Amino acid sequence: MARKLPNRIDGGLFISLEGGEGSGKSTLIRCIKGFLEQEGYDVLITREPGGPPISEAIRGILLDPENTAMDPLTELFLYLASRRQNLVERIRPMLNCGGVVISDRFADASIAYQGGARELGLERVDRLNLEAIDGMFPELTFFLDLDPAEGMRRGPATRAENDGRGDRIEREALDFHHRVRDAYRTWARRYPDRIRVLDAGQPADKVAETAILILQELLTRKESI
Ligand code: TMP
Repeated sequence: MARKLPNRIDGGLFISLEGGEGSGKSTLIRCIKGFLEQEGYDVLITREPGGPPISEAIRGILLDPENTAMDPLTELFLYLASRRQNLVERIRPMLNCGGVVISDRFADASIAYQGGARELGLERVDRLNLEAIDGMFPELTFFLDLDPAEGMRRGPATRAENDGRGDRIEREALDFHHRVRDAYRTWARRYPDRIRVLDAGQPADKVAETAILILQELLTRKESI
């Protein structure tokens, strides 16, 4: 059978996934990627902090549990630096080729974690984000909404590392993770067209089904322009 050629979308499609620890982002990314590739799209998966080597090096600093002295603004600038590099080196080139980029976290994570949980302020982080990414927000963001206590029970993927106690952020108290969730919810209400809230307490296949329906709708709209 002939290989299906990539279905190029003008300007590409940029999708991000957001949520607290253990909210099921990795599982959903696998499902969405499978769906899009079956439909013939070129898909790039990336993550934040991380992606290209410079951003991965910054990730190492950010998540190292030894870095307990890190100032909240230093933390924010490091996330922004990682994001900027990923955007320039990986995300923008893929979108320019008409591909699909799925990012495991992006700008909204800084709003929730640094703006909300670290209490730097959502608006302040929004302004700095804008500067770092030249206004290049995803077209669609899935926010996997889950009770943080349940998320911590499920166990973040990185839990096995660092003596099973998680990375520097995962080690924060439950309060911190509640502030993360509150900020995500506030931000999702602010941008209801872009940020789609998924109930991550449901079984993974249900979550994926809803996400794919939303995605199909967006693709139909984009392809018909
Ligand atoms: P993860 O890739 O395992 O989700 O780890 C990334 C951690 O970094 C996670 O705890 C969320 C946190 N984070 C921020 O605090 N701000 C950000 O801008 C991003 C992208 C992630």
